[in-house]
Amino acid sequence: MLKVIRRKSILKEAVDEFRKSNLSIGLVPTMGALHKGHISLIEMSNMHYDVTIATIFVNPTQFNNTEDLAKYPRNEETDIALLSKTGCRVVFIPSVDEIYANPPLITLNFGYLEHIMEGKHRSGHFNGVGLVVAKLLGIARPDGAYFGQKDLQQFRIISRLVSDLDIPVQLHLAPIVREENGLAMSSRNERLTAEQRQLAGNLYKSLSLSSDLLFSGVPQQEVKLAVYDFFKALDGVDLEYFEIVDFETLENIPSLNEGDQLALCLAAYVAGVRLIDNLVIEL
Ligand code: PAJ
Repeated sequence: MLKVIRRKSILKEAVDEFRKSNLSIGLVPTMGALHKGHISLIEMSNMHYDVTIATIFVNPTQFNNTEDLAKYPRNEETDIALLSKTGCRVVFIPSVDEIYANPPLITLNFGYLEHIMEGKHRSGHFNGVGLVVAKLLGIARPDGAYFGQKDLQQFRIISRLVSDLDIPVQLHLAPIVREENGLAMSSRNERLTAEQRQLAGNLYKSLSLSSDLLFSGVPQQEVKLAVYDFFKALDGVDLEYFEIVDFETLENIPSLNEGDQLALCLAAYVAGVRLIDNLVIEL
């Protein structure tokens, strides 16, 4: 049976009970408007850990755009109904006041990771992500936590948070779940019409194109130009960035070699909705 918990103190009691019974805990943090991508994380957690705790919290400190926060989809009832079918034991749905009763004085800065890709275009975003994930790990004290490769830079940030602060949790990176046309599932897709979702399939198409070009030995600069040209020729999609980076460090690689693991990452706007995607390849 799925238990809905809204208070930190009650969640702590539930966690104490699980710990007393020697049950391992997997955590799946989300901002709700759940889709198959989120559910895949829950299923992975269920396989590895005795109990899964999901969290639903639209975290205001990670939104650098007030309109994006206001328009973020919220479907609490549907989310609870979905979760109750997954075997997830607890869903923690705190209010903003519950999480930020004391506005944090601390600020997190992730060094070079702040100045590339998402960090560069969403000032303060990773401070908010780091804060809330540190809080959720502190409240739920899980053995493991699941994050999606769709937000690869977020995963790298959280990995640094956990290693820099020696937080005792095992992090798991889960593959991207996609729609039939390749569009990465995202809560923000709910803001798109069926037609716009079709158009948004071009994000994945451009990643596949760049992957093909890299495998056939086309130099990175030319691949980048090809991707920029691909989007220039497309009405209704505005590319914000496209980067070819090292899968682990997310830094640019001056010259590529066989065996390199790359992440091809982009952000683009479709009908005013900001979407991100990436493809990981090994040369
Ligand atoms: P949210 O966007 O709701 O995503 C929750 C988790 O689901 C993240 O780890 C994300 O990478 C993963 N996810 C999203 N789309 C996915 C897909 N198509 N396939 C597989 N996994 C997917 O990311 C956040 O929330 C927040 O920043 C959070 C970590 C909860 C902190 O507030």
